[in-house]
Amino acid sequence: MCGIVGGVTNNDITALLLEGLNRLEYRGYDSSGLIVLSKNNTFDRARSVGKVKNLEDNLKARDQKILGNIGIAHTRWATHGEPSISNAHPHISMNSVSLVHNGIIENYIDLKNDQLNKGYSFTSETDTEVIAHAIDFAMKSCNTLISSVQLAIKSFSGSYGLGIISSKYPDQIIAARKGSPLIIGIGKNGNYIASDQMALLSVTKEFIILEEGDIAEIKINKITIYDLDGILVNRPITISKLKEGQVDLGNYDHFMQKEIFEQPQAIRDTLESRITKDSVVISAFGHKAETIFKEAKQVQIVACGTSFNAGLVAKYWLEDIAKISCNIEVASEYRYRHPMLLDHTLFITLSQSGETADTVEALKTAKIINNNISTLCITNSAESSLTRLSDLTFLTHAGPEIGVASTKAFTTQLVSLALLTCTIGKLKNIINKKQEKKIIDGLKRLPGLVNEALLQEVQIKDLAIRFKDTNSALFLGRGTMHAIAMEGALKLKEISYIHAEAYPAGELKHGPIALIDRDMPVIAIAPNDELLGKLKSNLQEVKSRGSQMIVFEDTNSKVEAMDAMEVIPVTSNLGRITAPIIFTIPLQLLSYHVALIKGTDVDKPRNLAKSVTVE
Ligand code: G6P
Repeated sequence: MCGIVGGVTNNDITALLLEGLNRLEYRGYDSSGLIVLSKNNTFDRARSVGKVKNLEDNLKARDQKILGNIGIAHTRWATHGEPSISNAHPHISMNSVSLVHNGIIENYIDLKNDQLNKGYSFTSETDTEVIAHAIDFAMKSCNTLISSVQLAIKSFSGSYGLGIISSKYPDQIIAARKGSPLIIGIGKNGNYIASDQMALLSVTKEFIILEEGDIAEIKINKITIYDLDGILVNRPITISKLKEGQVDLGNYDHFMQKEIFEQPQAIRDTLESRITKDSVVISAFGHKAETIFKEAKQVQIVACGTSFNAGLVAKYWLEDIAKISCNIEVASEYRYRHPMLLDHTLFITLSQSGETADTVEALKTAKIINNNISTLCITNSAESSLTRLSDLTFLTHAGPEIGVASTKAFTTQLVSLALLTCTIGKLKNIINKKQEKKIIDGLKRLPGLVNEALLQEVQIKDLAIRFKDTNSALFLGRGTMHAIAMEGALKLKEISYIHAEAYPAGELKHGPIALIDRDMPVIAIAPNDELLGKLKSNLQEVKSRGSQMIVFEDTNSKVEAMDAMEVIPVTSNLGRITAPIIFTIPLQLLSYHVALIKGTDVDKPRNLAKSVTVE
């Protein structure tokens, strides 16, 4: 992960670099730094450990301002070397090359040994410093900066998004990408680079998305791009639909809170033009979708984190409602385990960012294993590695999600997967018109139902106090609610640092029941479905072991409240598709309020990053 921003402009670049870093901070926040070429073409660098705010304070405290028209900046999520000033980017080689890097150079130890023999010295423990030295070395035999970069990167294995400047070529930035996202922004007063468009929205809406292997030379009024083979290429300019206000907090205290409350609108936006009065719009999945879905014999889903939990819900839906066999696996396992992939598999990747390295690589692996499959990605990012690699793309219209803990991306993924289930079921003649209309009616009710569930916030806030001194919690659910329990446990872990596990309620007796005592709260989800009776028995088993319980229920479930068991009615009359989406809401609110009580950094929890573009 890590975030990169840079630019060559008519004006001083420092303020823009800081603004960009603030907008990219979701990508990593254990240290940050920037460097500019000052008037006499020397490097002026500042680096700080911790959040971007520390870098801002560092700059404010300086007697001499950092000024220059060309510069690069970086916010780091540590992979090689602890978060420290010396490991923070930008790195410099011989006062001639400086760069910022997102990715991992896997053969850096071999390169480092070679460079030590050549007389280079190292100031950091990172894998990145070898890139700077390799470019400096290449400059001895090349007569342009870009050709030096082209030569140097031949020796790297691994992934990189790079922003490079040189004191010997003070009019340009070189950008290079392989396996890590990088875009070019075209502005009125200059040209820019960044890991994503949000960083540059204040200066431009025009972007070029670099493709795998591209290397670009960016000057104030000229951009030249070469592809993997060194051939001059023209990449299209896209106009971003993002609005600046979308990435601001508005009246909220945290992005996570804002994004939880944006869910009714995000769901509305995701449904818009994808459904009619009573049916799903098949072409919303792309013009080849009808043929591909009709031919699909089974589904394989891969994803990570929250997106994986959404996929797990879809497994139940696809098999139960559309009657198509479905497997799901975490991408980091799938990509390495030589899986079997049958012909006519519909291979689905789920990813908010569209850039998660493991998910992207799992997709590439699948295409190598069997090219007689079709691929669909469901993502929140229109211009991403996954969309470029997939036959079909379905965009969740959640809008930018900044909070590291995913909320609206999850519920809009579920909505998208519900539409997919309905589409496949319909094309395979499993779902008739009446059933399709029922699903569509349920989906239309969702924004209102989410709003109702959000009204429980006051009650949930009170419950959250109980978790003040809790070290561990157990989440229980059956069927799709097991996946929702997993998402609830993940949210609690991510932002409150409380150990939380989710179990299918029926599995409790096979081990985890040994953990239950008064100090371990159990959170259960009780929809009014065919498994309710069994769930109620499981709740009794927990209750009789003395646990403090919280049950989120459908009012029609009528779970009896008892001592040490609080029952919170969330909603009523939910169906198989609406229920998992609605029961997600109280769990999001619970983890948010527990995190507030614990005083953690809700939007930037320790050790995490939103978009994990490294292995
Ligand atoms: C990171 C984030 C998680 C996210 C996961 C997958 O680990 O911290 O919140 O669920 O990546 O991200 P994706 O963008 O692929 O959905």
